[in-house]
Amino acid sequence: MMTKNQQWYKNAIFYQVYPRSFMDSNGDGYGDFQGIISRLDYIRDLGVDCIWLQPTYPSPLRDDGYDISDYTGVYEPFGTIADFKRLVAEVHRRGMYLISDLVINHCSSDHPWFQAARNDPSSKYYDYFVWSDDPNKYSEARIIFVDSQKSNWTFDEKVGKYFWHRFYPTQPDLNFDNPEVREEMKNVLRFWLDLGIDGFRADAVPYLYEREGTNGENLPETHAYLKELRKLMDTEYPGTVLLCEANQWPRDVAEYFGDGDEFQLGFHFPLMPRIFMSIGKQDASSLLQIMKDTPDIPDGCQWCTFLRNHDELTLEMVTEEDRQWMWNFYAPDKEMRMNLGIRRRLYPLMDNDRKRIELGYSCIFTLPGSPVLYYGDEIGMGDDIRQFDRNGVRTPMQWDGSKNGGFSTADETYLPAIRDGANGYLRTNVADQENDPDSNLNRLKRMIRIRKSSEALGSGKLIWLLDGAAVPVLAYARESGRDTVIAVHNMTETDRSVLLSAADGTYRDLLNESLEVEAADGLLRMELPPRAFHWLRKVN
Ligand code: GLC
Repeated sequence: MMTKNQQWYKNAIFYQVYPRSFMDSNGDGYGDFQGIISRLDYIRDLGVDCIWLQPTYPSPLRDDGYDISDYTGVYEPFGTIADFKRLVAEVHRRGMYLISDLVINHCSSDHPWFQAARNDPSSKYYDYFVWSDDPNKYSEARIIFVDSQKSNWTFDEKVGKYFWHRFYPTQPDLNFDNPEVREEMKNVLRFWLDLGIDGFRADAVPYLYEREGTNGENLPETHAYLKELRKLMDTEYPGTVLLCEANQWPRDVAEYFGDGDEFQLGFHFPLMPRIFMSIGKQDASSLLQIMKDTPDIPDGCQWCTFLRNHDELTLEMVTEEDRQWMWNFYAPDKEMRMNLGIRRRLYPLMDNDRKRIELGYSCIFTLPGSPVLYYGDEIGMGDDIRQFDRNGVRTPMQWDGSKNGGFSTADETYLPAIRDGANGYLRTNVADQENDPDSNLNRLKRMIRIRKSSEALGSGKLIWLLDGAAVPVLAYARESGRDTVIAVHNMTETDRSVLLSAADGTYRDLLNESLEVEAADGLLRMELPPRAFHWLRKVN
């Protein structure tokens, strides 16, 4: 058993593994647990502390596994529960943690509960779901998958009523007003925690309850139930963590931390598009503003920052004007747009421009929060917008230049690996990059190592150093005990000169040890080439 530092997650690097596309060990064209095990050394060597394993439950894959048809099983092509346990043990053996996806808001319409409810409305399972004769009920709840859904209600012919779903109609929402549902879900948590995992990334939590006259998001009942889950975990599985997926404004996400008695971790959704916007507009004012609008959170809690994930780059948390700007700039081709977002990967989004990409990474490594990396983005993997839904950013991991990028020996894989172009596996793959000290992979590894070497960057207090209506240079200090690091970013394509207030002394760039600057009379002057950034540690 690994000894747990109870607050390991507060300064951790997370890595998202999408199991279907990570590594296929048996040549059937699907990634699997054994495949992931075979690549754990790679993940550890990247500097990862915790793997977020995306859904591995049996599923008809109408929302790529976020439609669960059995909460206590595994998707057959991935392996068995025994393989899952082996994976957990192997992760722990390497000193890492593993959290998996917990999708409780809804199940698959193939789930036996929903089938039983439809086939026999007098069965107890009928009340596991939310039914209505009137499709105008809860009309204030927005539609999330706007590209394909007209309503959150779908008529069920067999039952003769409408059922409620915040996502696809193949994902009926569970009825959390029913105590049995609440209990079922607690048992799901127990089932997986008994297998030794370290916690969950809880999917789509704002929508658990519905109430007339509200938008059905972040309701008090929802928070109350989530607190019960946390309590269960603290009591029965001490040291396990809950990460909240709530695509909401910072003050609303902050509610999910409760008084330190709800989630330990929460994604900072609004920050993400503002990093892209700041880089694109060469002005970090929107980033600065959202960080200033971000409330303090209880001790023992932490934000999770990220640049990309398996979904569209969501633009739900920006103004209409900014959304249009983002679409025009980062998704000029309409095919790249999806719902209120952009379905592209990091490197293609940034035109493979390393300066902009690393500027983005620098933001998430130096701002408060535990960074979450999306598999493949460490090498600069490609995307394929011809694929259905968000599958274009979920293609097979590019391990080497061989068939299917080394992901699988099968003739046909679940999704085709991207072969050609700058981001295809012939030119972008792990094997080549491991051997090249200046590769995307090795440069990122180095940034991670340095970030982890600094207590200030991990958990220091944040102090803004520059402000204004326009913010061409983003600069702040992180302070923790005796460790002070000033992070300074030239967001623009032009040379900049800045004057920052800083305690007198010598500052050395953690990223380039030969660079030292002096602060005198409380001021530090820096000349910044286009898109340059520095992590300046006070050395004396
Ligand atoms: C979350 C997941 C997304 C999924 C949705 C419905 O937002 O990240 O992939 O489609 O929930 O489960």
